[in-house]
Amino acid sequence: MTLNTASTPPTPNEPRHWSEVPHAPAPGTVLGQFGALADGSATMLEITNPNATGPATAFRYLLLRSGHEVKAYVNRCAHFGVPLVARQDLLLYQPHGRITCNVHYAHYRWSDGLCTAGDCEGESLLAIPVSIDADGTIRIAP
Ligand code: FES
Repeated sequence: MTLNTASTPPTPNEPRHWSEVPHAPAPGTVLGQFGALADGSATMLEITNPNATGPATAFRYLLLRSGHEVKAYVNRCAHFGVPLVARQDLLLYQPHGRITCNVHYAHYRWSDGLCTAGDCEGESLLAIPVSIDADGTIRIAP
């Protein structure tokens, strides 16, 4: 059996921006606390939409800390549009370097979410703009 992992062009319904992902929260929503993230850590988190129905009711994302900087990406591989990872303990990453999809192991650059190796090379994760309040609260930036 051969698994077809070829990259396919996006369909019109595929999100091209984090805010188009189902259950995407509004700007200003709290994503986490800076103090809870170790330097060089990647953390999978989710926000459940209390008004959602159906099998998928949450917005899942990744927070990556490098020094004083935090990057946020939707937990969605650019290859097949499936989650990069299902659980925190399965999250594959090289601190400050890259994160790796659990399905076909595409590599994404930590700093900007660009796929640098794999079936979606040249495509990117959906980045979520963040701001950090003086008390360390990480929010979706406007
Ligand atoms: S789904 Fe194929 S590399 Fe992520």
